[in-house]
Amino acid sequence: MQFRTQQIPPGRGIGTTKTSPSGFSAETFNHLHHIEQYCWSVFRMRSLRKTLLLATVASVVLVVALLHSWPTRAYTTLDVRQRPGPGVERHLEERLPEPDHRSANIPYRLRESVAGLLARNGCVCEGESGGVNFPFAQLLFPRISAHSLHTAIEASELEEVKRRRAKEYEAFQQRSQTPVDTLRVAEANSPLQYPTQGVEVRPLKTILLPGLALQDLPRELYTVNLTSTLGVLNIAAEVDGVKVKGDGEMHMTLISGMLLNLNRQLQFVTYSNTRFHPSTADTVHFETEGHRAVITIKIRHGVTPKLYDTGPKGDYNISAFVTIATKTFLRYDKLQDLIDSVRRFYPTVTIVIADDSEHPQTVSGPYIEHYIMPFGKGWFAGRNLAISQVTTKYVLWVDDDFIFTANTKLEKLVDVLEKTTLDLVGGAVREATGYTATYRQTISIEPGEEGDCLHLRRGFHHAIQGFPNCVVTDGVINFFLARTDKVQQVGFDPRLARVAHLEFFIDGLGSLHVGSCDDVIVNHATKIKLPWVTQSESDKTYAKFRYPPASSDATHTKNGLLYFKNRFQCLTHN
Ligand SMILES: *[C@@H]1O[C@H](CO)[C@@H](O)[C@H](O)[C@H]1NC(C)=O
Ligand SMILES: *[C@@H]1O[C@H](CO)[C@@H](O)[C@H](O)[C@H]1NC(C)=O
Repeated sequence: MQFRTQQIPPGRGIGTTKTSPSGFSAETFNHLHHIEQYCWSVFRMRSLRKTLLLATVASVVLVVALLHSWPTRAYTTLDVRQRPGPGVERHLEERLPEPDHRSANIPYRLRESVAGLLARNGCVCEGESGGVNFPFAQLLFPRISAHSLHTAIEASELEEVKRRRAKEYEAFQQRSQTPVDTLRVAEANSPLQYPTQGVEVRPLKTILLPGLALQDLPRELYTVNLTSTLGVLNIAAEVDGVKVKGDGEMHMTLISGMLLNLNRQLQFVTYSNTRFHPSTADTVHFETEGHRAVITIKIRHGVTPKLYDTGPKGDYNISAFVTIATKTFLRYDKLQDLIDSVRRFYPTVTIVIADDSEHPQTVSGPYIEHYIMPFGKGWFAGRNLAISQVTTKYVLWVDDDFIFTANTKLEKLVDVLEKTTLDLVGGAVREATGYTATYRQTISIEPGEEGDCLHLRRGFHHAIQGFPNCVVTDGVINFFLARTDKVQQVGFDPRLARVAHLEFFIDGLGSLHVGSCDDVIVNHATKIKLPWVTQSESDKTYAKFRYPPASSDATHTKNGLLYFKNRFQCLTHN
């Protein structure tokens, strides 16, 4: 349904205070300044009388200029501070109507298989114990292990860190919740007819409130009240026999002895948003004697699309669709092999390289962009820089030690993203041993008091119809094609300097729709380390930075971020 919108004059909000214009505009200041300078030069040259005359003229000019630039538009002030207010909404139990006590005594049998699926009051992370311990046991029979994350924080600081985390979390909730998220129950047998969802208004614009009516009840006089909080109510047309009070305000009353006339009048009720917010919601209370309903109105701008022109129709032109992004650190020989392999199949695709080596070497050639970063900025900082420079619709993430082969068919990945709602699709990486990995992970989060519980499991959610080699999952390997704007939105947290990968997918949970296909394969150049083969110097330095021991600062940082930034208390994985 579409409604005509019309602009209402600003500043008609009720309960807002008018500001008096508190100063001159910049333009007026310029005028004043010029006039002042002129007066001074005149004063030095001419006699006092002439100066006085000029001064009078100047004053007149000044007054005219002032009057001219005096703000004619009165602005209203709005309090948009974040406050640690009272809990945004009352608890669920308080919002629900009184349950019928007569039903309390009726017995029931619990269905464990279903009841067990319901969220518990506070989550826990439980690992699996037992089993045999032998080499590769974890590879062959993956067991679930559990980790507490608060151990990443110094014990002496834990209480203080908890307090700070709680404060930030409360502010986050206030920013991210609107009345649309509130549970509401429609009471039985309400004579009120009203829209339950789908009413939307652009900030500071007006709509007709659709679907309002009152059902037949024998009455002498019919009264309905409408009350809003972020805008005003009015009527777009007047109907005879209906008394309207409070039109143009936040509380409007319609009274009539004739139900038909009242219902006709209700068809012309308008809502005008008066308090600007780019994305929030208002709740309008709609009442008649003994009955009350709540209408939720979304107030928001439309989403501005970000579209990419991929050229004329035809086969997928990979150079027009895809930019390859990578991050390198010391391994220039590997990087050159990657570039050479890409060029065999895609000679004109752009390759963006982020490089934080200590002594950067030149990497040049057609369709190559090489960005030098401060030394050791790290893994996610480099990814972030690389993706920020992409201008094509899709970005392909590769590690600098991958090698393209005839199996690295980017067209297939583009086809999946073009034909599905997926935002990101991973491929497969083949090791030198022949072992091929997709590293599919599912991520789930259970709510908890002391922070949520994060559960990572190998696997996926669904197969994808029409793409027999592809599945829907939450996290994939380091080789993926993604919608550029979506990965830019999620971003790679630059605080994760060395060991990180799944963190990106954790940050993107709820906004990234992720898939994985095992028929697009890139080769991994780094061979399994054999003790009798000596590593090159750069490989050794690289390994020192990239694979720090599990107890190191890097792991500590990672768990600390999961604890504070993502507000998890613990994690389990297999
Ligand atoms: C409507 O609001 C008026 C005050 O503006 C109040 O006196 C009246 O009781 C309300 N009527 C209903 C049905 O809620
Ligand atoms: C493919 O796209 C690139 C970059 O947009 C363009 O230069 C090239 O001409 C296109 N090739 C074809 C065959 O359309």
